[in-house]
Amino acid sequence: MRIIKTKNYDDMSRKAANIFFSQIVSKPDSVIGLATGSSVLGLYAELIESYRRGDLDFSRIRSVNLDEYVGLDGKSDQSYRYYMDNNLFDHVNIKKENTGVPDGLASDIQAECRRYDSLIESLGGTDLQLLGLGHNGHIGFNEPSVSYSVGTYLVSLTESSLTANSRFFGPGEHQPTQALTMGLGSIFRSKRILLMISGSNKAEVARKLFEGKIHTDVPACFLLLHPDATVMLDRAANGE
Ligand code: GLP
Repeated sequence: MRIIKTKNYDDMSRKAANIFFSQIVSKPDSVIGLATGSSVLGLYAELIESYRRGDLDFSRIRSVNLDEYVGLDGKSDQSYRYYMDNNLFDHVNIKKENTGVPDGLASDIQAECRRYDSLIESLGGTDLQLLGLGHNGHIGFNEPSVSYSVGTYLVSLTESSLTANSRFFGPGEHQPTQALTMGLGSIFRSKRILLMISGSNKAEVARKLFEGKIHTDVPACFLLLHPDATVMLDRAANGE
């Protein structure tokens, strides 16, 4: 696992954008795995900026997102589909039909999980998978557990994740307690993985990643087993 320590959030966002930049320029039909949350927002802003300058072309890019809340419409501003449209897709020339996000409103959840796995399979897996880190060490919405799913599945969110993500929901707004998430198998199929970690409240869990041991209750530790995983963190997440 490669560790890149950056100066601050902006520096981390620029350095992550460089990795995406070289991926997209060297393979314009890349399949990229995308994440939501605050840690990756600066990266998306950098990618939009590069597109506006005419330096990046997303017309042949295909994407799959890690996860989606169950019960939220893609137009609901708390859904991850909305987040992706609003923070990236609507600002670059990616074709919407080439962007995959699990359908949180699917009437048959099991069928939707299988559909999403088939989509990833048909794309041949991802070339570059972006990840954020949950306060409890989750990646995607793979919560700490005694066993881990390989493919896409329905997960009941832990108290830790619900609390961490409650900041996105206003008073009285319904916060879903379940989500659909890619399993660890789909994430690990990616040729390259980039995990971005920002903020002092992630320092404790980030430290676990650097001990060189698989703490099975910290799902992100499994990245130690991936042949091409990079962890990029800002100073605060590094406990400085
Ligand atoms: C949510 C997403 C995760 C993401 C995490 C990190 O829980 N399901 O995929 O990694 O947020 O969020 P943030 O960067 O806001 O801390």
